[in-house]
Amino acid sequence: MGGPRIQVVQDADELGRAGADLVAGVFAATPAASVVVATGRTPMGLYAELAGCRRSGLADTTRITVYQLDEYLGLEPGDRRSLFGWMRRRFLEPLGITGERVVRLPLGGDLEGACAAFDRALEERGGLDLAILGLGPNGHLGFNEPPSDPWAPTRVVDLSPVTIVANASYWGEVADVPTRAVTMGMGQLLSARAIVLVVSGKSKREIAHRALEGPVGPGVPASFLQEAASGVTVIVDRAAWGNG
Ligand code: F6R
Repeated sequence: MGGPRIQVVQDADELGRAGADLVAGVFAATPAASVVVATGRTPMGLYAELAGCRRSGLADTTRITVYQLDEYLGLEPGDRRSLFGWMRRRFLEPLGITGERVVRLPLGGDLEGACAAFDRALEERGGLDLAILGLGPNGHLGFNEPPSDPWAPTRVVDLSPVTIVANASYWGEVADVPTRAVTMGMGQLLSARAIVLVVSGKSKREIAHRALEGPVGPGVPASFLQEAASGVTVIVDRAAWGNG
């Protein structure tokens, strides 16, 4: 325990390198690690650095299994806004992870039952070794929007107006952002044996301090990282953290 380890780095480039080092270390210690990875802008440098480590033989991903963190509901196959498509282009393909080593979230049918089955299957396989997460503008992790309890399971969620505005910057405008999604639950994420939270940019400064130093509660889901039993490392750049 002892709370998150906060590693302050100079800028987004250093964040990518520091994050890739840490993740490569987890892969070296646990070659068959189960990992969940965020999309969003912040971890993209980390993924590019990690792909570089793989190319130069410093990271072995041949036995890694990757779980999907979150996805919008209601998209047709091939939709440009698919978060899975984003993860495929920026993480799975550069790291050579395919087939059965990719576990997707359920998106159709009896979603409640399928989400419960997803959580059961994850638990039966021993849970997550590593979660690579970004910090939402409202303190969300994945799409665990406020309020989210620390035991909240994988489930369907309505995206909050703040998240929809933030996601509009990925896809064009607010009207382009789906309003519902499936997210891996807080319970699954907080049980990961290691968690890396990456935070970059001045716009995250206030929420980063609230999440990591403010009161712990469902109103800022990321605040539960303060009490996570796992090893939590927060890699945050100067713009997001200030001088401490
Ligand atoms: C994306 C996700 C989100 C983002 C968060 C930060 O799969 O789960 O929780 O990590 O919204 O996004 P960026 O990094 O774009 O600021």
